[in-house]
Amino acid sequence: MAIKSTADKVATIQKGYTLEGPTIELGAAIVDGELHKDAPVRLPLSMMNRHGLVAGATGTGKTVTLHMMAEQLSTAGVPVFLADIKGDLSGLATAAAGSEKLKARTDSIGQPWSGKTFPVEFLALGGDGAGIPVRSTITSFGPILLSRVMELNETQESSLQLVFHFADKNNLELIDLKDLRAVIQFLTSDEGKDELENLGGLSKSTAGVILRELVTLEAQGMEKFFGEPEFDTAELLRTAPDGRGVVTCLELPTLQTKPMLFSTFLMWLLADLFEDLPEAGDLDKPKLVFFLDEAHLLFNDASKAFLDAITTTVRLIRSKGVGIFFVTQTPKDVPAEVLGQLANRVQHALRAFTPEDAKALKATVSTFPMSDYDLEETLTSAGIGEAVITVMNEKGAPTPVALTRLRAPESVMGPSENALIASTVAGSALLAKYGTAVDNISAYEKLAGRAAASTGPNTGGSAAEAGSGAGTGLDPNAVDADARRIEEEILGRPSSRPAPAPEPERAPQRRAQQQESGGGMAGDLAGALGGALGGGLKSMARSLGTQLGRELLRGVFGTSSRRRRR
Ligand SMILES: Nc1ncnc2c1ncn2[C@@H]1O[C@H](COP(=O)(O)OP(=O)(O)OP(=O)(O)O)[C@@H](O)[C@H]1O
Ligand SMILES: [Mg+2]
Repeated sequence: MAIKSTADKVATIQKGYTLEGPTIELGAAIVDGELHKDAPVRLPLSMMNRHGLVAGATGTGKTVTLHMMAEQLSTAGVPVFLADIKGDLSGLATAAAGSEKLKARTDSIGQPWSGKTFPVEFLALGGDGAGIPVRSTITSFGPILLSRVMELNETQESSLQLVFHFADKNNLELIDLKDLRAVIQFLTSDEGKDELENLGGLSKSTAGVILRELVTLEAQGMEKFFGEPEFDTAELLRTAPDGRGVVTCLELPTLQTKPMLFSTFLMWLLADLFEDLPEAGDLDKPKLVFFLDEAHLLFNDASKAFLDAITTTVRLIRSKGVGIFFVTQTPKDVPAEVLGQLANRVQHALRAFTPEDAKALKATVSTFPMSDYDLEETLTSAGIGEAVITVMNEKGAPTPVALTRLRAPESVMGPSENALIASTVAGSALLAKYGTAVDNISAYEKLAGRAAASTGPNTGGSAAEAGSGAGTGLDPNAVDADARRIEEEILGRPSSRPAPAPEPERAPQRRAQQQESGGGMAGDLAGALGGALGGGLKSMARSLGTQLGRELLRGVFGTSSRRRRR
């Protein structure tokens, strides 16, 4: 192949990035060491739901890249969710001041620049920080995510599922940690002995282990993350009165001390969104773009089942109009099955100091399409605020690889003043809704008052009636099956998806009945089969692979959702 001239290489990039429809402008290409402001590099808005990866060594500009993308998304009317680990994204609420240096940069890449503020909502997990407190109820969080936070093994996880099942069946609402503790304490008490036996598959010693873990969680101050009012993930989808997308900034100042809790909470937000959003097909622009900084925390020590669930969520949430961008130091941090689904790539500089670095570099290069660049050389020499880019064009094909000098944000790179954050939070419509924790009557109070005695297990319902939630009349298909799996395996609660053979006209009645009985026949089946299934209840139920299996699964994992989309 003849060696291409610089002009030809520039022409390839110009052609490859001539796109139809609205775009996020990323910057201008650098070819053969020269910046070409007439060769813009951009990302079609309609392809943001094909997900992406922003990677690079520390200090190379990853956070600024997501900051700059968030600004343009907001301007285009797309809501954005950011996990702000280092507190350096709150600057989105403050207009940047120009400088000579900045002007030189923006002029060089043909970026029209003016300082701006963006509509930002500040959230903080459990009120751990200045933002509006974000909480989840234990019921909604579900036994599977909770098992991950508690670092339970598979047997213990199955046992925890049985505890949830028991609580549901007996109308013992699991809102906060003390509710769950009260239920387990009851089951391990003399009074609860018979109930424990009836459950089958849950041994007193395993219940004791879970109880100890729970007490440890409480001792670590985790109770503030669970309770009411529960955060409604629909809040992430709002636009400001001027039509711009709201940028929701979730502060995670103490992430390093509770990595498992926080990464699991992010998964809960995604899974909950997934469950609530309708299928959207291909949209002109996404409904939400979700940036997951420090993404490796999500994958560290994750079980195969948990990884599978993440992979499936990432794959399917696309058709609901949500784009997920993972931000991490090297693509190696992301499992191959997830990486394979990240079509939009912004790769900042990598270091190659050690043999391990060199291997990571080679691996990174191998994930890019063929190009006119020597990528090993380019990736080790790229400057701060520059990145190697390839995205998906509107026809679904990768754009040419381009080393790009990236645009600069128009709001402050770094934190906003504390006073501004405080006044933004004080003026937020969400404050009245979520600002103050409430402690309604739930399992703890009921058991403390011995009210439980009068709310014995319900019976009734046939196997058929214990089936699906509200059928929508859609034909069951493979996507439905996967979607159900996400809801059931991540959140451990019944799917709102139609069951394979729904009877739509009877659905509402069935749902009401199910909520009332909290599991109906499936619950009784679980009781009957519990001993036989033992610790491997979930996998056993799954491996039944039948309608019965699925219904049993629902019944066993079933927790009635208290808050659903209006
Ligand atoms: N696009 C850009 N325009 C102007 N300056 C930039 C740009 N990107 C990065 N910078 C400069 O580089 C600094 C470091 O960038 P940033 O904080 O985004 O790095 P990072 O990759 O997120 O690092 P870490 O891994 O430590 O979080 C910024 O504070 C800013 O001064
Ligand atoms: Mg950063």
